Amino acid sequence: MNIPVFDLKRQYKYLKTELDNAFTNVFDSGTFVLGENVRMFEVEFANYLGAEFAIGVGSGTEALHLSLKACDIGPGDEVITVPNTAVPTISAISFAGARPVLIDVTPDTYTIDTKKIEKKITNKTKAILPVHMYGHSSEMEQIKKLAEAYNLRIIEDACQAHCAQYNSRNVGTYGDMGCFSFYPTKNLGAYGDGGMIVTNDEEFYNRLIMLRNYGEVKKFTSQIEGFNSRLDELQAAVLRVKLKHLQTWTNRRREIAMLYQQLLFNSNVQLPCERQWAKHVYHLFVIRTNRRDALREYLQERGVGTQIHYPIPIHMQEAYKKLGYQEGDFPMSERNAGEILSLPIYPELTTEEIETVAGLITEFQGAT
Ligand SMILES: Cc1ncc(COP(=O)(O)O)c(C=O)c1O
Repeated sequence: MNIPVFDLKRQYKYLKTELDNAFTNVFDSGTFVLGENVRMFEVEFANYLGAEFAIGVGSGTEALHLSLKACDIGPGDEVITVPNTAVPTISAISFAGARPVLIDVTPDTYTIDTKKIEKKITNKTKAILPVHMYGHSSEMEQIKKLAEAYNLRIIEDACQAHCAQYNSRNVGTYGDMGCFSFYPTKNLGAYGDGGMIVTNDEEFYNRLIMLRNYGEVKKFTSQIEGFNSRLDELQAAVLRVKLKHLQTWTNRRREIAMLYQQLLFNSNVQLPCERQWAKHVYHLFVIRTNRRDALREYLQERGVGTQIHYPIPIHMQEAYKKLGYQEGDFPMSERNAGEILSLPIYPELTTEEIETVAGLITEFQGAT
C-alpha cells in the first residue's frame, strides 16, 4: 500500500493534455514575464473571489511582504499574528522591518484567539495579520471591529485558504489585502512558486503593481523602490487551467473531510472543527492525539504518509528566539506542535484509501 500525504502526479495525469497545451502555448508565444496569461489570471482570480483587483507575485511569502510594504509598515512598527503558522508568515513581517507580535490560537480552529488581541495593541501596532490556518477562516468580524477601533490594517494570510469563507464571503476579501500562495501542494497549486494579492483598494493596487516590478510606473521609470516578484507566464497558464477545477476540487476535499469525520467519529483523536460561520476548504485535515508520534510511525510502517504542520511554533524556532518569547508563552500552539498530525487529503484520494487510513487509525487505537 502507498498512500502519500500529497500526490501531485495524480492531478497531472488527469489534466495532462490541458496543461501540456497551456505550457506549449506559452513557449510558442515567446512571452514569459507579465504577459497575457498573468493579466488574464489576475482578472479571473479577482472575479472568482469577488475582489476588485489581483496582483500576481512570486510567492505567498512575497504576497505578504509586499502587502506590508504597500501599507508602509516597517521598522518600529508591530504586526499582530500567530505562533502556530508557517515560518514565512513571520519572515514576511520581519523582512519588512516590523516586529511580529504573537497571540495564541484557539484550541478548535487553530486560528488567532480574537479575545486576546486587544490587550496586545500598542501605539506601535499597525496591522493584524490573521492566518486562515489549514483552510479554516479566522473570526473576521471581531478582527474588523478591532482594526476599525484602533485604525489598523488587516492583511489576511490566505495562503492555505483558497475559496474558504467567513459568513459566506471568501477570505482574502475582508482585509485591506488578502495573500495567497500557489505552492504546488496548495489547493490551487502551480508547478513552481507563485502567489497573489487581492484588494478592493485602487491605491494599494497601483502601489503593488509597482512594488512587484522594480517600482516601475512604465518601463525603465521607477517611481518608488521596488522588488522583482512577478508571477511568471508559465505558472499563470497552469493556474488558469486549474482555476476552472477549483470548485470541484474544493467540494471533493469537503467530501473527504466528511468521510474522515464519520469514520473517525468514535475514535479518540480530536477531529477538525468547522465553526458555523466558516466554510472550511481542508487544505489540510489535521487531527490531534497525545500519541501522535506512535500513530505516525504506525501509519508510515503501513504505507500511509502523514505530515506535521508545524512541529516547532514560531517563538521556539532558532531564527525567532530574538523576539524574546519563552517556552510556555503560547500553550495552545505548543501543545498543537506535539499532538497534531495531517492526514492525506487531496481531491484524487479514493474512498477506499480514505477508509484504509481511517481503518488503520482505529486499528492502532485498538492495538495499543
Ligand atoms: C500559512 C502560510 N503562509 C505563507 C506561506 C508562504 O507561501 P509560499 O510558500 O508560496 O511563499 C505558506 C506556504 O507554505 C503558508 O502555508
